[in-house]
Amino acid sequence: AATAGAPRGAFILFEGVDRSGKSTQAAKLVEALNAQGTRAELWRFPDRKGTVTGKAIDEYLSATAAAVSSSGTGGTEGGKSGAGLSDQAIHMMFSANRWEKSRALLEALQQGVTLVVDRYAYSGVAYTAAKRVPGCGVAWCKAPDTGLPAPDVTLWMALPPGAAAARGGFGGERYEEAGFQEQVRGVFAEVRDSSFVDVDASGSVEEVHQRASC
Ligand code: ADP
Ligand code: TYD
Ligand code: MG
Repeated sequence: AATAGAPRGAFILFEGVDRSGKSTQAAKLVEALNAQGTRAELWRFPDRKGTVTGKAIDEYLSATAAAVSSSGTGGTEGGKSGAGLSDQAIHMMFSANRWEKSRALLEALQQGVTLVVDRYAYSGVAYTAAKRVPGCGVAWCKAPDTGLPAPDVTLWMALPPGAAAARGGFGGERYEEAGFQEQVRGVFAEVRDSSFVDVDASGSVEEVHQRASC
């Protein structure tokens, strides 16, 4: 039930390339907000659990030895239907994954809950456009996300490429490859909008937390 008269919660988004510290900082921010008496929840995209699209996305991302871009028409690999999805199909899955949660997201905000969200539609556009598939430029990538609830602020985790690489090896999921990450970073720079606020993501976890929470 909606809390009568409760002020709307804030939609705070973390975006950045892999290993820029989004998940670490999003969790810390939620903790700090709750400690100061602000009702806050941590949400993440892709939402791999509790969604129809989550399983296919999980299979796609964890497909071993997969090329970044499939550029094909789809199919199956290793019996997992998500693994062989075409670039276009997986793009729609990521967007649909956000749409699956959009009503619940708006309801939570309306009930006064602040949502701290780990990745959202900017990641959707950046990762697909970075593949440079003909016909799938930024405008094409943005289209399916049109009309989604928009963040009040997007905290961009600004980190030089070398610094992210120093934070340990990639886990082996699709997209975890240095050259591709640079292309992703380039698209993020192209699609950033007025919701973006740069957070210097270098230094200790605590230092970054102080910067991200002011
Ligand atoms: P992302 O969600 O952006 O991929 P994570 O928060 O998962 O990033 O962090 C990636 C890795 O770097 C993790 O091993 C994490 O413990 C580590 N890490 C996060 N923040 C820092 C930091 N400020 N300094 C050093 N290592 C960090
Ligand atoms: P995530 O689980 O946040 O991984 P990590 O914490 O390691 O950064 O995201 C998994 C991958 O999904 C990541 O490489 C970015 C990619 N992605 C898309 O390609 N499209 C999207 O719409 C989203 C939200 C993520
Ligand atoms: Mg993360």
